[in-house]
Amino acid sequence: AKMLMKSLVFLLLVAVSSAKVFERCEWARVLKRHGMDGFRGISLADWVCLTQWESHFNTKATNSNSNGSKDYGIFQINSRFWCRDGSFSHNGCNISCDQLLTDDVTAAINCAKRVVSDPNGIRAWVAWRNRCAGRDLSSYVRGCRL
Ligand SMILES: *[C@@H]1O[C@H](CO)[C@@H](O)[C@H](O)[C@H]1NC(C)=O
Ligand SMILES: *[C@@H]1O[C@H](CO)[C@@H](O)[C@H](O)[C@H]1NC(C)=O
Repeated sequence: AKMLMKSLVFLLLVAVSSAKVFERCEWARVLKRHGMDGFRGISLADWVCLTQWESHFNTKATNSNSNGSKDYGIFQINSRFWCRDGSFSHNGCNISCDQLLTDDVTAAINCAKRVVSDPNGIRAWVAWRNRCAGRDLSSYVRGCRL
């Protein structure tokens, strides 16, 4: 019973404190498994580059914008348009913003698919425009067993 108690306490601590930060190739494989390679014509290297500069692959990343909106999770998805966090929102992904911060990245990836399906496409992401557009991105997936 003592062992069980210890395990439970440990699990609880992990659950409270964990911020899942993916390793680059691990993340590339997760993206691929979720059908992101070529989704709307966007390469896996573009997604890896975008998330590298938006969140450094950290699922718990948040950022407050000067206009009062917040960006959430590994894709830094904006609360004004895409998720619900108490402030005014169009909630285009029909989810609570907290769901974009979980270790299970399914909701975040599905929401990113929704964002990129808008007319702006991948240009919706400032980091992609500044750091990835028009560059050789092969290093972002180099050495990954995909
Ligand atoms: C608020 O600022 C963020 C970051 O600059 C931007 O992505 C978002 O579109 C802005 N929202 C509105 C409603 O202007
Ligand atoms: C939004 O999500 C809720 C459950 O989370 C669901 O009941 C509802 O049908 C969804 N709405 C749309 C427009 O998809």
